[in-house]
Amino acid sequence: MKVAVIEGDGVGHEVIPPALKVLKAVELDFEIVPVEVGYGKWERTGRAMDDNDLDVMRDCDCILFGAITTPNDPNYQSVLLRIRRELDLYANVRPFRSLNIPIDTPYVAKEPFDFIIVRENTEGLYGGKEDIGEDRATSMRTITRKGSERIARTACKIAKERKNRLTIVHKANVLKSCSFFRELCIDVAQEDGVQYNEALVDAMAYNLILTPQKYDVLVATNLFGDILSDLSAALVGSLGLCPSANIGEKYALFEPVHGSAPDIAGKGIANPLAAILSAKMMLEWAEEHEKAGLVQQAVNYVLEKGIKTTDLGGHASTKDVSYALVGYIANLRK
Ligand code: IPM
Ligand code: MN
Repeated sequence: MKVAVIEGDGVGHEVIPPALKVLKAVELDFEIVPVEVGYGKWERTGRAMDDNDLDVMRDCDCILFGAITTPNDPNYQSVLLRIRRELDLYANVRPFRSLNIPIDTPYVAKEPFDFIIVRENTEGLYGGKEDIGEDRATSMRTITRKGSERIARTACKIAKERKNRLTIVHKANVLKSCSFFRELCIDVAQEDGVQYNEALVDAMAYNLILTPQKYDVLVATNLFGDILSDLSAALVGSLGLCPSANIGEKYALFEPVHGSAPDIAGKGIANPLAAILSAKMMLEWAEEHEKAGLVQQAVNYVLEKGIKTTDLGGHASTKDVSYALVGYIANLRK
């Protein structure tokens, strides 16, 4: 398997090397193809990504991605959004599960929960149809039948492998594009025999905080899925624990939900678990289920042992966590 590896910016440089070490520890047979894209490259060369970079990615089976800094600059086009669109990675799959470890943050959910956000990843408000003028700026939100049906199908497929409960998230009481999305999702759920309910996105945010244990699979448009992902990460205890998979028909990209975290970058304290669990999602995608299981076991081990980075209330460094993980896997394989 050929894996394009993008460390990106900030903590991306710190969390991807441990993820690669873990993949080597489980003896995945893979070739690493490093690709440099991101804000750092933009500052140096004036371009965040070259067309050639996309060709290199297309020549690989999948991508392991760290994080990229996206400045608040209207002249800068987000590299990650471009990769998602160009490779048609339409399904952003983000699992959120409570952990059985004490985490020193007040907002961790009290009851155990386990749900997945399936976020449409190529259109909606992130579709790139925008314009900015002297007195007005417009961002177009286009929702298509194709985009909605395929994300609904993915969500239904995942729901059927789980508790068969789908929640369709929208704001159809206000937005026509949401009424359209809602109806198409309902049609697909009915066709696929999936039990569904629906929630307005604002109420959804409230209810996720109050009763996350009620949910199984959520399907949402791009911006809503993005916002609910970070909210959900807080319920888990840290963005540093949350992985994701961006999946299309042909390619896939695996990345932690967190960003480049410039505030802690370079300090060696970033939590590598989100990147490592993203590598685990890559193993699942590649049907390497036994190896994926090993990675999960190793992650459980370090958490149970209390080897925690500062975001989880611990004192361990990025390296402490990754050494413990890799050591555990090496012992298991002896
Ligand atoms: C994410 C990130 C990206 C997004 C940004 C960096 C473009 O926040 O993966 O959730 O909004 O999709
Ligand atoms: Mn986000």
